[in-house]
Amino acid sequence: MDTTVQTLAGTILITGAHGKTGRRVAARLTSAGHLVRSASRSGDHPFDWTNPHTWPAAVDGVAAAYLTYQPDLALPGARDAVTGVATALAERGVQRVVLLSGRGEPLAQECERAFLDLVPTGTVVRCAFFDQNFTEGPFAPAVIDGVLALPGAPDVAEPFLDAEDIADVVVTALLAEGTEHEGRVLELTGPRAVPLVETARILGDAAGHRVQYQQVSAADFAAVAEAAGLPTDEARGLAELFVDLLDGHNSATTTTVADVLGRPARSLEEFAAEAAAGGAWARA
Ligand SMILES: NC(=O)c1ccc[n+]([C@@H]2O[C@H](COP(=O)([O-])OP(=O)(O)OC[C@H]3O[C@@H](n4cnc5c(N)ncnc54)[C@H](OP(=O)(O)O)[C@@H]3O)[C@@H](O)[C@H]2O)c1
Repeated sequence: MDTTVQTLAGTILITGAHGKTGRRVAARLTSAGHLVRSASRSGDHPFDWTNPHTWPAAVDGVAAAYLTYQPDLALPGARDAVTGVATALAERGVQRVVLLSGRGEPLAQECERAFLDLVPTGTVVRCAFFDQNFTEGPFAPAVIDGVLALPGAPDVAEPFLDAEDIADVVVTALLAEGTEHEGRVLELTGPRAVPLVETARILGDAAGHRVQYQQVSAADFAAVAEAAGLPTDEARGLAELFVDLLDGHNSATTTTVADVLGRPARSLEEFAAEAAAGGAWARA
């Protein structure tokens, strides 16, 4: 990747550096010669969004930061935690800060505003659903199991977004020369809104076995999330959030990935072909 002019010296904090976007951002920064501080509950640097005592040590001495909140900016507790960490960064004069966010979530957008009030030079990267939900994390088994079960009507379309594109945009916002991305919300989507029923077909075609789309209730979706290991409150909160998100209001696409990177966003089909070739959905 050659999308940045590197002007940043010093350690870059990444919260959730083993997660879907954090891992990819960390890899890009490390291979470009930057020092990364990986902060999470099991990271090199102990950091827990639910424990404010862990925040000062994580932010001390960093030159920039990429913040990925867990579990979701639209869930209770997010605003206090994000503003707490943003305040600690602002007090230390850290100006290059990128916050990961989600589209069409009023509470997440409140967090974004509070973050930009505290760090006016920061950038929000507001994203559509990640393609990598189908290969990583609690919902990844769906494709292998052959049933994509979501609380949305089959014809609702989502412009699925590749975490590789998100990472390229985040690294650009962190390292780019000048102030172009400062104080901005970059709203990222994939190139096309894909109906959920077609999403299952695309994933199944790539995986080499049938993947059926099933619309489920919020309660059934929460039960699946809980069975996958999420705490009960988090599973219920995510289920309610998914019902809101999968009502069609997020189906518009943006050109921001292409505008920032000078190349098109990757399609769901490209992601699926690559994931299948890497053995992501091979059945035993
Ligand atoms: N997934 C999507 O489609 C999507 C779309 C738009 C926006 N987002 C945003 O992306 C963020 C999460 O992304 P994700 O769901 O894909 O997860 P993810 O990035 O895969 O997150 C996992 C990471 O979070 C860390 N983590 C978990 N709980 C933590 C805690 N209490 N304190 C500190 N670190 C913690 C984990 O490390 P440890 O286990 O070591 O703590 C791991 O590194 C949310 O803010 C969400 O709003 C997601």
